[in-house]
Amino acid sequence: MTYDLVKGMYDILPEEIPWWRLAEEAVREMARRYNYREIRVPLVEHTELFTRGVGEATDIVTKEMYTFEDRGERSLTLRPEGTASVARAYLTHGWQTSDPFQKLFYLGPMFRYEKPQKGRNRQFHQYGIEVLGSLDPSVDAEVIAFAWSLMEILGLGGLRLRLNSIGCAADRERYREILRQHFAPSVDRMCVDCRRRLDANPLRILDCKEDRCQPFIGAAPGSADHLCPECAGHFAAVQGWLNQLHLAYDIDPRLVRGLDYYTRTVFELTSSDLGAQDTLIGGGRYDGLVEMLGGPPTPGIGFAGGFERLVLVLQQRQPDAMETERLDLFLATLGEEGRQAGMKLATDLRALGISVDVDHRARGLRKQMTQANQLRARHLLVLGEEEACAGRGKLKDMDSGEERDVSLDPESLAELLFPACDGGCGGGCDSHPDL
Ligand code: HAM
Repeated sequence: MTYDLVKGMYDILPEEIPWWRLAEEAVREMARRYNYREIRVPLVEHTELFTRGVGEATDIVTKEMYTFEDRGERSLTLRPEGTASVARAYLTHGWQTSDPFQKLFYLGPMFRYEKPQKGRNRQFHQYGIEVLGSLDPSVDAEVIAFAWSLMEILGLGGLRLRLNSIGCAADRERYREILRQHFAPSVDRMCVDCRRRLDANPLRILDCKEDRCQPFIGAAPGSADHLCPECAGHFAAVQGWLNQLHLAYDIDPRLVRGLDYYTRTVFELTSSDLGAQDTLIGGGRYDGLVEMLGGPPTPGIGFAGGFERLVLVLQQRQPDAMETERLDLFLATLGEEGRQAGMKLATDLRALGISVDVDHRARGLRKQMTQANQLRARHLLVLGEEEACAGRGKLKDMDSGEERDVSLDPESLAELLFPACDGGCGGGCDSHPDL
């Protein structure tokens, strides 16, 4: 019997991790700059949270959820996205009364039973932000600016922001009817899914990717032309803020996004660096979601993006991300005495913050040197019986080839080995006391 990976699920291998870290750290750094707090919600929620929150007629709910019954006969679902869970957490912790304005971010795996392809998996990883408790258009602009800045610090090019407004619940209802009338005469020439969507939720037709449906979608009326005065004012104000922040956008009158909780502002950020799956980030307002989950009327807005797509681009653009992951010291040991002294010294140095590795296979010196090179160790120290007795050894700088005689006292060795600071300390370290 062989154990294969489940379709659409992947191992993220150690050699890929530097790019994942790069992306994750960029999200954390942006969250720090914009003052968003991290939230970690469970991977599993009651199925109803998503059927109600994300919407019965969405692709996610109709065909993509991993739903199962637990031993207590509860219907549970692996989270397909984070927004519904964050809105649930908002209510679970009573923030609607104690602290109604929340700026949150999250990172983690999501699960959707989709057709796997490059940049689209069944277990994938999202980063996302959510702001709850304000309808102010400045929040929409901040959320979009966050997305934009994140892509900029990661060096992604060819960015394009597509923006639209789908209005409040009443506007959407009116727009749905307008779409129904638009599509009804041609529905027989459209795909099976769209025929079903015409009754269930014609907004979803606008997300259809089938070629045969495109001419009808391209001719459909845009949502922004059918907004009530309040929503039209909100949309104009969002655009005003984006202009103020010099954030370029294209109005896409048929952008509606594939989840039912959206209201008013919706947007997607794409990059020409990606192929077919060019959407880096998707988001929008969901002013009715918290109320739909049983809470008071609470506006909300956020976005999420897929790490897999980011990592694909980062690997091409920054092939040297590995540079940051270097071992401080490899201790090559010879003989039993050397191994014993080496293990002890390695443990002491690790306690002082130095990354150290030793040989665990009693191999000869040549093979240990090869290992040190493979690990891209900055330094090498050969420790045999002689060095163990004398308490001194030769420390080799692997970049310059220089060797120097050093004491094996862990404290003084650690001082020599401590990796030079690249300025990330922000000041105060030994190399940058005055920054
Ligand atoms: P979404 O458009 O379903 O929105 O997903 C957001 C992003 O997650 C996509 O643009 C894409 O980058 C990534 N993504 C989605 N599905 C996959 C997949 N199968 N494989 C790889 N990446 C994928 C949401 O999830 C909303 N919760 C976003 C949001 C937050 N709206 C408001 N707040």
